[in-house]
Amino acid sequence: MRYGIIGCGRIAPFHIGAAEAGGMEITCICDTDPKAMEALAAAFPACAGAKRYADFRKMLCENPGLDLVSVATPSGSHGEIGLFCIEKGMNVIIEKPVAMSLAEADALIAAADKRGVKACACHQNRFNIPVQRLRKALEKGRLGRLSHGSVCVRWFRDRDYYSQASWRGTWKDDGGCLMNQCIHGIDLLRWCMGGEIDSVYGVIRQNQHPYIEAEDAGMALVRFKNGASATIEGSVNVYNTDLEEVLCVFGEKGYAKISGLCANRLERLQYEGMEEDEDYQAFEEKAKNIYGNGHKSVFADMAEAIKENRAPYIDLKAGRDALELVLAVYLSAKEKRPVALPLRDCSTLDFEGFFDKNGKQI
Ligand SMILES: NC(=O)c1ccc[n+]([C@@H]2O[C@H](COP(=O)([O-])OP(=O)(O)OC[C@H]3O[C@@H](n4cnc5c(N)ncnc54)[C@H](O)[C@@H]3O)[C@@H](O)[C@H]2O)c1
Repeated sequence: MRYGIIGCGRIAPFHIGAAEAGGMEITCICDTDPKAMEALAAAFPACAGAKRYADFRKMLCENPGLDLVSVATPSGSHGEIGLFCIEKGMNVIIEKPVAMSLAEADALIAAADKRGVKACACHQNRFNIPVQRLRKALEKGRLGRLSHGSVCVRWFRDRDYYSQASWRGTWKDDGGCLMNQCIHGIDLLRWCMGGEIDSVYGVIRQNQHPYIEAEDAGMALVRFKNGASATIEGSVNVYNTDLEEVLCVFGEKGYAKISGLCANRLERLQYEGMEEDEDYQAFEEKAKNIYGNGHKSVFADMAEAIKENRAPYIDLKAGRDALELVLAVYLSAKEKRPVALPLRDCSTLDFEGFFDKNGKQI
């Protein structure tokens, strides 16, 4: 399988490592910053023979035989670059969030359907073993009618992190902690609680990072159409520590608590009749960092989806759902009232100027 990547920054090694593990040929790499591109190539011998490009359009036009492309550029460019890839007929893995607006996400979904390409939203934590165990139990209805749930993402980002790249923490290209760091957990919550949302009431704050535009803490209450409700707590303000990402789901016949650095530890999965099932035991999937191990599974699934001509496990609709929920929290915080879903078009750009230079809501 011939593979190319657009964006050779912080997350790129996880893509290259996963492509390498899947036996793909790294055909070309692209970055507007030659230093980033060379650093990636130096770290992976598999990239040695890869053609280098500064312009993603040129890369795609000159390499029509690529089987799979990753978009790992700043989030504000995912809509444009993803759409170009899809329109060129490329199968694509788009890093999260899939776009910064619902209109862009819808354009990606429509183009992928029209072109018949496989397009995946990179919410790799769906493949975490504990998450898979919970999901399988939910799919079998083991937890019964759902009552409530929660996700807490308690991480730390400092000034050094935000000064690594000018796009970080901006409304145009990133959003705040909910859109960047917490979106994996938010995706898991929505996916596990039944998907369809009635309304969202949210609060966002900028408490410790006055040099960014967007939020560094966010809270929300989510009402699902199935009668369940859930809370979201996300922040990058935990003193000096990436503490945990915790997902809880409670139903009338069972419950689950998943914790760890990135929802990689199954603390409890308990449900009626569980002794018949071997999968319930507490379990920790070793993760070296907050990105977990899921990129390899994302790539393996995409390779299989392409080969078998089936939809990827995590499609663009999944990416759109997570994006919509974060945008709903932002909109609710701005309007200081619960907002009903589905949202009409909404974009992170709608929240420019949300905080003043002292971090106060305007
Ligand atoms: N799935 C995950 O767990 C995970 C983790 C981290 C980051 N991400 C996502 O990955 C994306 C990249 O994040 P990062 O931390 O690697 O950022 P980064 O700033 O470290 O890297 C982005 C790279 O893209 C390059 N770039 C910018 N515009 C480009 C263009 N038009 N064409 C080609 N290259 C371009 C930049 O020069 C930079 O090297 C973001 O959307 C982020 O949300 C996902």
